[in-house]
Amino acid sequence: MNKVLLYCRQGFEKECAAEITAKAAELGVLGFARVKEQAGYLLFECYQPQEAEKLISELPFSSLIFARQMVLVGELLRDLPPEDRISPIAGMLQGAVEKAGDLRVEVPDTNEAKELLKFCRKLTVPLRAALRQQGVLLNYESSKRPVVHVFFIAPGTCYVGYSLTQNNSPFFMGIPRLKFPADAPSRSTLKLEEAFHVFIPADEWDERLASGMRAVDLGACPGGWTYQLVKRSMWVDAVDNGPMAPSLMDTGQVTHRREDGFKYQPVRSNNDWLVCDMVEKPVRVAHLMAKWLINGWCREAIFNLKLPMKKRYEEVTQNLALIASLLEAEGINAQYQARQLYHDREEVTVHIRRIWGAIPGRRDERDR
Ligand SMILES: C[S@@+](CC[C@H](N)C(=O)[O-])C[C@H]1O[C@@H](n2cnc3c(N)ncnc32)[C@H](O)[C@@H]1O
Repeated sequence: MNKVLLYCRQGFEKECAAEITAKAAELGVLGFARVKEQAGYLLFECYQPQEAEKLISELPFSSLIFARQMVLVGELLRDLPPEDRISPIAGMLQGAVEKAGDLRVEVPDTNEAKELLKFCRKLTVPLRAALRQQGVLLNYESSKRPVVHVFFIAPGTCYVGYSLTQNNSPFFMGIPRLKFPADAPSRSTLKLEEAFHVFIPADEWDERLASGMRAVDLGACPGGWTYQLVKRSMWVDAVDNGPMAPSLMDTGQVTHRREDGFKYQPVRSNNDWLVCDMVEKPVRVAHLMAKWLINGWCREAIFNLKLPMKKRYEEVTQNLALIASLLEAEGINAQYQARQLYHDREEVTVHIRRIWGAIPGRRDERDR
C-alpha cells in the first residue's frame, strides 16, 4: 500500500491536493496527487515505498484543513465479482493490517456515491464476520486499534486500507452526525457545534466550555452560534446590527450590542471565548482576530474565513501565517487549528487558543 486516500468536500479536491503535497514535502515525503474534480476525495501517491505509511503516522491529521479522513490504501479494486466481493477485499488487507478495531464501509460525500450507502451497510455485516475470522479485525470493537476502511467510488469498485486511530477522524465518512436543535434560530448553529467537537477534546469540554464563562459573538444574528454558547450556560455579548432571536434574549444570558463588530471593544477584557461569523474579507477578519488575542480580550477564538475566491488554499495559509506573525511579534504563544467542517461550504473554520500573553505588565492571571 503506497497511496494516501483523503476524503474532502466535493469541489475542494484541488485545495486538498495542494495541502497534502505541501505538508508531505515538509516531512520529506515526495509524491503526486491524483485529482478528479468533484470526486469528493483524492489520492496522494508516494514515490518511495513505505512513505505513505510514514505519512499516515507522522503527518498530524489535525493539521490538515481540507481533509476529512486520511487512509493508507493499495491499488483500486475493480469489478468485484457479485458472488464473492469479500475475498478480494480481505486479500488486500491480509498482511497489511491485523487486529484492527473497527470497520467502516464508506463512499465519497457526493450525491451519486450516496446511492451506494445502502449496499455498503449490507456488505458490512458479512465482511466484518469474514475479517474477524481471518484476524484482520478483532472480535470486538476497539478504539485503540487501526480502523479498516473500504471506500466504494462506484458499484464493484473500491479502495481498501486502514487509518490509525490516534491520527484519523473518529467519524464515519469523516462527518460528525449532529442533530439540528429544533429551537435554534439558524442552521449555522451546527457549524459552531461541529467546531467544538472537532477542535476541543471531549474530556476538556467541562473546563473549556464551562457554565458561567463569558463569550462575545461578532456577527451574531439571528443567533445560531449564540445559541450554542447559551446552551452551555455562558454569558454572551452578541454584536450585530440585525435582529436577535427573541427566544435567546428571553434567557437573560445575552446582551445584544448593536455595533460594528470591527469597531466593538469588549466591556470586559477577560472573555473566555470570541466567536465570529461575519461575512467579510479573510484578511480583515484575520487582523481583527489577532487584535483580540493580542489585547488579551479573549482566551480562545473560533471564526470563519470565507473563501469565495479561486486560490482558496493560499488564501487560508496566508491568513493563518499573518495571524501567527502578528501574535509572535507581540510574544504571544498560541495553538492553531483550521478545518473545513462538514457544515462549512465556501469557508473554513479556525480555532486559536492563546497559551500565554507576554504583553509587558499585562500578564493575565489565568495564564500563569
Ligand atoms: C452569516 S451571518 C451570522 C449567522 C450567525 N452566526 C448565526 O448562527 O445565526 C453574518 C452576520 O454578520 C453580521 N455582520 C456583517 N458585518 C458585520 C459587522 N461589521 N459588524 C457586526 N455584524 C456584522 C450580519 O448582520 C449577519 O447577521
